[in-house]
Amino acid sequence: MSADDPILLALGSINLDLQVRADRWPGPGETLPVRDLLRTGGGKAANRAFLARRLGVKSCLLGHVGDDDFGEEVLRGPRDVGVDVSPVVKVAGQMTALSMIVLRADGDKTILLAANANDAWGEADIEAAVKVVEAAPAGSVLTVDLEVPVAVVRAAVQAAQARGFKVLLDPSPAERMQDDLYAMIDVITPNPEETRGLLGFAVESEADAVRAGEELVARGVGVACVKLPDGGAALVSADRREFVAPLDVEVVDKTGAGDAFAGALGVALLERQELLQAVKFAAAASSLACTVYGSQQSYPDRGQLERARGGRERVR
Ligand code: RIB
Repeated sequence: MSADDPILLALGSINLDLQVRADRWPGPGETLPVRDLLRTGGGKAANRAFLARRLGVKSCLLGHVGDDDFGEEVLRGPRDVGVDVSPVVKVAGQMTALSMIVLRADGDKTILLAANANDAWGEADIEAAVKVVEAAPAGSVLTVDLEVPVAVVRAAVQAAQARGFKVLLDPSPAERMQDDLYAMIDVITPNPEETRGLLGFAVESEADAVRAGEELVARGVGVACVKLPDGGAALVSADRREFVAPLDVEVVDKTGAGDAFAGALGVALLERQELLQAVKFAAAASSLACTVYGSQQSYPDRGQLERARGGRERVR
């Protein structure tokens, strides 16, 4: 790889994940024994950057951790696979963000998130992040989530636009979305819950997903990849309505599958893959991310992803 190669920039959350399996949600006042405690690095931006490196492109992580022991721990995984974590700031006096994840038997999860350092940004921090975006090689792609303050996202997106970079937004948590951001986004990737948060209705069918995509395009995004409950997605732009099926896999854990989708789609945009192929690539990465307990633990490398696509890509 050369210094001029484009990079996937991942701006957003960097979390310590504490994950358990539970058979059900506890009742009021109840203590419920759980299983399979996993303590690992996570967070949406860290996961996207990690996956991009696994898929063979350069990636760079922008975000905040605390000056506690967790701060080093959450960067270890991304650093070990070669993510550039040099822009990550250790915020003095803050704790690293903590995600408490409860996985149910159907593979779906509930997350309680203590944002901590993710939300501790001052003006100088924003300027520093903008400088990283401005200095990225031509053809880079910016991926962002909303687990950091919107002011940070907006400034980075504006810097990316000024450089002509494609911008992908994973709108999580949806309640942080601001109307002016839509027109600044090339690709948006809401899951069914996020679509409900953005637009006020649930996505339960392909027709719902198209309706949601059309609404998001009307608000100004270039392309909406609206995820379906089965792990597939609808691709909607001004002139396209297409559907992508998930791979036929055994779902063990959906945690981090959305980050895999966003990260792989960012890689595909960076590689200038044709749009429908790009969404298939993303859906396949997301499917494989559901097959192993944990987030970064489940992310495929390039060979695993291509082999799985060859064998199991379904036609919707
Ligand atoms: O999308 C899953 C990720 O976001 C997890 O790694 C967890 O940190 C959550 O906030």
